[in-house]
Amino acid sequence: MAALPGTTDRRIDALVTLLAENATIVVSGAKIAREIGVTRQQVWRWIEKLRALGVRVKGHPRTGYHIERVPDILVPQMLNHRLRDTPFAHHFYHFFKTDSTNAVAMRLGEAGEPHGAVVIAEEQTAGRGRAGRSWASEKSSGIYCSVLLRPKLPPAHAPLLTLVAGLAARDALAEELDVAPDLRWPNDVLVRGRKICGMLTEMHAEPDRVHFAVVGIGVNVNHTKMPAELAEIATSLRMETGKFHSRIELLIRLLRHLDRYYNQFLAQGAAPILRRFAEVSSYFQGKRVRITTATESFTGTTAGLEPSGVLRVERDDGRGTELVLSGDVAEAS
Ligand code: BTN
Repeated sequence: MAALPGTTDRRIDALVTLLAENATIVVSGAKIAREIGVTRQQVWRWIEKLRALGVRVKGHPRTGYHIERVPDILVPQMLNHRLRDTPFAHHFYHFFKTDSTNAVAMRLGEAGEPHGAVVIAEEQTAGRGRAGRSWASEKSSGIYCSVLLRPKLPPAHAPLLTLVAGLAARDALAEELDVAPDLRWPNDVLVRGRKICGMLTEMHAEPDRVHFAVVGIGVNVNHTKMPAELAEIATSLRMETGKFHSRIELLIRLLRHLDRYYNQFLAQGAAPILRRFAEVSSYFQGKRVRITTATESFTGTTAGLEPSGVLRVERDDGRGTELVLSGDVAEAS
């Protein structure tokens, strides 16, 4: 695994795991310090850091520490043993803070990191959205995760990869909600018309093959409200259900679904992915939409997907069927 500046110290990882394994029991500062191989002062400093992330740790070095529930921090040791049978267990990079997990994963891809590497951050300072937008990445409220994939694909088929990831996120979210989430092509997950999860696929490719792709996934999990400018168009799991959701459990499920859909795609090709998209997305067919691409904006009605995952839209202006490779899709009246 590459040594990356800024990744979380493995001993903090061990501290979180130790606290999780001893939840509700008082563990002395001295014992923790011994077990993870640091001073008691260092344990104290790291506990303070965890408190700042919302982990409720009671006590201090003399009396010992205990936590009220398993900390919901996405450190590798809390995740990798539960992903053992997937490619996502072996190269895990966790940051308390980074600019963008996609940017980190792109650099790892260029440095030859293998398929399945996962980059996670508790907070992003320059989270990237599609079309040059930014992604609000409030500390420890959401999942900010990027996965490095090395599919043997021509770049023209990359939209399929995006659909694979969108289906995985949609299924993971469906398990936490009473209402069925919708998928807006290619891979925004919506709940009651508001966005709860977005994805940004970036890649390194030659004209005939993809070197690697990075699928960045942002999920709004425990936000109690959205920034004013997003209030009308975005939501979070907590806002939908009124309760706290474990990011750990959600991320594990998301990565397991991703593994399943990706393997299905490799083994059986695009057909089952397109069929599943048709089942769960109201945007697949017959939806009135406004499409905004880099060069134009037009309205029309969706008319299924091409075998490569590209969206077909029957234009209102009589210019026939448009094949939309990328762009913003919005519901039109
Ligand atoms: C969008 O809907 O505009 C795409 C949002 C993608 C956000 C995620 S958060 C994790 C990963 N790192 C980034 O910088 N962006 C993606």
